[in-house]
Amino acid sequence: MTAPVLFPMPGNDAFCAHLASLMHARQGELDYRRFPDGESYVRLDTPVAGFDVALICTLNAPDEKTLALLFAARTARELGARSVGLVAPYLAYMRQDKRFQAGEALTSAQYGALLSPAFDWLVTVDPHLHRHKSLDDLYSVPSAVVHAAPVISEWVREQLAHAVLIGPDSESEQWVGQVAAGAGCPYLILRKTRRGDRDVSVSAPEIKRWRDRVPVLIDDIISTARTMIAAAAHFKDAGMQAPVCIGVHGVFAGTAHADLLAAGAARVVTCNTIPHPTNAIDLAPALAQAAARMASHTTQRSAGHSRRDGVTT
Ligand code: R5P
Repeated sequence: MTAPVLFPMPGNDAFCAHLASLMHARQGELDYRRFPDGESYVRLDTPVAGFDVALICTLNAPDEKTLALLFAARTARELGARSVGLVAPYLAYMRQDKRFQAGEALTSAQYGALLSPAFDWLVTVDPHLHRHKSLDDLYSVPSAVVHAAPVISEWVREQLAHAVLIGPDSESEQWVGQVAAGAGCPYLILRKTRRGDRDVSVSAPEIKRWRDRVPVLIDDIISTARTMIAAAAHFKDAGMQAPVCIGVHGVFAGTAHADLLAAGAARVVTCNTIPHPTNAIDLAPALAQAAARMASHTTQRSAGHSRRDGVTT
């Protein structure tokens, strides 16, 4: 099978180059700019006819990125690409997975319905699956999910001695439990109540018994950082050490990173699903493997083996 051609959407060049070298793939050139009126201009400068193509686009700030991504995907198809995949290390709109108030847009499903027809496959990292069992509930194309837990476990094992891992809410237990098992640490799960975008409280019973350990907060997304800030306040009150805060996806809305440091985080660490100075945990090797697998499954399917494969990495 010929290696796919990977095109970086704006802001994804370094990550795309890293993936391309891991996958022994070619990096394509994509020209993107805005016209003076704000519309998007997209041009694929590398031929795609007959090739498997993957667009690399992490989807934080999705409203700024999605149209250009759809234009690029559609252009690749029009120009004869054999298949078009999407590597979105961070997948947007996953948290609006329920009509919390009457009349709300159910954007997790709507966003899936918008992206799916443009692609043959999708690879992402730990999408926020809370009320949905799998991406198949939202995306109609085959998808592979890379789990950050094993790589975070390795980082914790190498970097931190005598840690206690802490998940800020019940949803986090799925990955905090896995990270703890891999790192050989105890873990506990707090209880969170969110009343608004920035209005979060967390209850932390029994944390005092872990006073001799380094508290390590782990969450899938750090957005406003209010969840971690609320948890960090308890550690201070309990006389614990300053926490290390680990996020799979460092979205960092506005001043969130500075706010978290000001609230007493000893260190903030993220995976490289969204470029940020806190990136310290590399998920590109796992993404490269998953993307290579998806591209080759698609090629086999288009060669006549038409089975819908769900791949979990
Ligand atoms: C929520 O369910 C997620 O797992 C995170 O806890 C949440 O997205 C964090 O958001 P923020 O940083 O805005 O508190």
